[in-house]
Amino acid sequence: MLQPISLPRNLDARPIPTTIHAMVHDLRCRIEAFQDRWDVPQIEQFVAADYELVYQTLDWLRESQMMIGNRFLEWGCGFAAVTLIADSLGWDCIGIESESTLLTHGHQTVADWCQTLRSNDDVTSNHTATLSAVPELVRGNFLPTGSESLADDPTLPSLGHDTENAYRKLGLELDDFAVVYSYPWPGEDEFHELVFDRHAARGAILVQFCGPNDVRAWRAVSNP
Ligand SMILES: C[S@@+](CC[C@H](N)C(=O)[O-])C[C@H]1O[C@@H](n2cnc3c(N)ncnc32)[C@H](O)[C@@H]1O
Repeated sequence: MLQPISLPRNLDARPIPTTIHAMVHDLRCRIEAFQDRWDVPQIEQFVAADYELVYQTLDWLRESQMMIGNRFLEWGCGFAAVTLIADSLGWDCIGIESESTLLTHGHQTVADWCQTLRSNDDVTSNHTATLSAVPELVRGNFLPTGSESLADDPTLPSLGHDTENAYRKLGLELDDFAVVYSYPWPGEDEFHELVFDRHAARGAILVQFCGPNDVRAWRAVSNP
């Protein structure tokens, strides 16, 4: 089962490093330009989250919660903003995305911002800079094999992605990750929770951005 982690009320007052602000600003401009293009098909499933609030949440979780490991996974990474935020906080990060166009933008984000974030003391001062490999972005489906059947609505946007199972490509399983981040479409938050509960390791944490001022965190625990 999933146990809610109670997030502090003043989460949005937590400081955000200048370099994180700069990356978020840059990515918002890129995302806006991408969404304004009239000559390429729009990817309606891609919506940017409130990256400042996600940073504040992840920073707080990292500081206050027991972690069962150091692997972080972003479900549907898009431009990979959250993958890079988690990398800057010291996790070993992987992002999975089904859309190849978005993945290209994600790779560009890693190329343009990873070293800048890592080399700034204002970003990495809170953790020892044992930063390992750069984040890995993988094209594929973030739903583990068989998990689509947990959905009670066949129209949920996370379903029906005709791409290879990403875990097979990675040689990992969902239960190899200590933290998973997702931005579910309205109405599919419960489905993401069910998938996480079914496949994640006990003790792993699910972080969801569900809309403005609505960020949630859960820990997978054994049934009583
Ligand atoms: C609401 S967007 C969130 C993007 C990003 N995580 C963020 O917070 O900015 C959801 C993303 O998940 C991707 N996606 C949806 N279902 C997927 C699936 N089953 N496998 C891989 N990617 C998926 C979409 O293409 C889209 O980029």
